[in-house]
Amino acid sequence: MNSVEQDEIGSGATVVVGIAELVTCEEAFVGGRGGDSLGIVRDAAVVVEGGRIAWIGPASRAPAAENRIDLGGRAVVPGFVDSHSHLVFAGDRSAEFSARMTGIPYDGGGIATTMSATRAADDQTLRGLVASRISEMRRQGTTTVEIKGGYGLTVEDEARSLRVAREFTTETTYLGAHVVPPEARGERTAYIDLVTGPMLEACLPHAKWADVFCEPNSPHAFTDEESREILGACAAAGLALRVHGNQLGPGPGVRLAVELEAASVDHCTYLSDEDVDLLVQAADTTTATLLPGVEFSTRSPYPDARRLLDAGVSVALATDCNPGTCYSSSMPFMIALAVREMRMTPAEALWAATRGGAKALRRNDAGRLSVGGPADLAVIDGPSHEHLAYRPGVPVVRTLEL
Ligand code: NIG
Ligand code: FE
Repeated sequence: MNSVEQDEIGSGATVVVGIAELVTCEEAFVGGRGGDSLGIVRDAAVVVEGGRIAWIGPASRAPAAENRIDLGGRAVVPGFVDSHSHLVFAGDRSAEFSARMTGIPYDGGGIATTMSATRAADDQTLRGLVASRISEMRRQGTTTVEIKGGYGLTVEDEARSLRVAREFTTETTYLGAHVVPPEARGERTAYIDLVTGPMLEACLPHAKWADVFCEPNSPHAFTDEESREILGACAAAGLALRVHGNQLGPGPGVRLAVELEAASVDHCTYLSDEDVDLLVQAADTTTATLLPGVEFSTRSPYPDARRLLDAGVSVALATDCNPGTCYSSSMPFMIALAVREMRMTPAEALWAATRGGAKALRRNDAGRLSVGGPADLAVIDGPSHEHLAYRPGVPVVRTLEL
């Protein structure tokens, strides 16, 4: 049990009590009563000091602190880690969504619509749009977010998208290879030269990651060979890798991600047995990030999460919040979909939305509650984490601002 002596708690600290169930997602606490896989401490207290957790343990042993918050028997979970989002965009594609609901399939072509609106928006407008989407996420329990570019698709517009994203998170991803923009159709090679040359150079100071929409099933996205070339150049420039793969049909995305030791391959909707085997072997390195809001919003079959979990693949859940395939910023909604539609247990879904996401971002500090770590506490308006899936569409989670 993590604990510190009472006299080590400094002034200005806050003790949070009335926690019926504290989900730590911390290995040290895992394996308790009933085979608990989430590291749950019951009737718990947490002491927070200077934005960090100073103490975790049973409320009966909690040290005194200057401030006290009583949550009245609610559950507390680690803030969600949304490891895949596209928040830097302007414009609206609700008409495309409506058309899709009447049967028109998604193929990535609508990205060009958002690209035009994003290019036309000034910096202040873009910044305001990202800020309001981030605040929407926080209100639903998300404390760590990854943000991709990919709606500028010129040197200046990609660099500016990432510059704006960097104002909100360190987890920024270069996605010049989202689609080939309309003005470059017929000149794919020249566009790829731009993405691997001047655009990469301009984006490098603002990016930690690089991603590519590797999808031979979309005429707008990139093939195996093109993706390999782009990711190779990005890795050589010092960026760590992520891949959009196997979203619209079977394809090379998973193989490529595993081969290039990407931290994550995202979507994973259409996988062969060989893809699953590769992901099992690469479980320490490459996480399969499932984005069930996309299947919901594009009316597509869900990925087979059970097949992945049962095989031993590392799985994360994220929103993919974007104007085309899933305009939802809600991690609780993704958890509810994962449980109801992908047969994940509530515990598996919560782990995937916290520690799974952190692993997909190679972050050791996020998605867990541990002494010395950040006080990323999310409070559920109910006694257990099951309420996340049990009460879909209800705003049951909030971050605790201390
Ligand atoms: O992750 N698949 C590629 N990119 C986004 C969708 C982008 C859009 O349609 O605007 C995704 O689903
Ligand atoms: Fe995406």
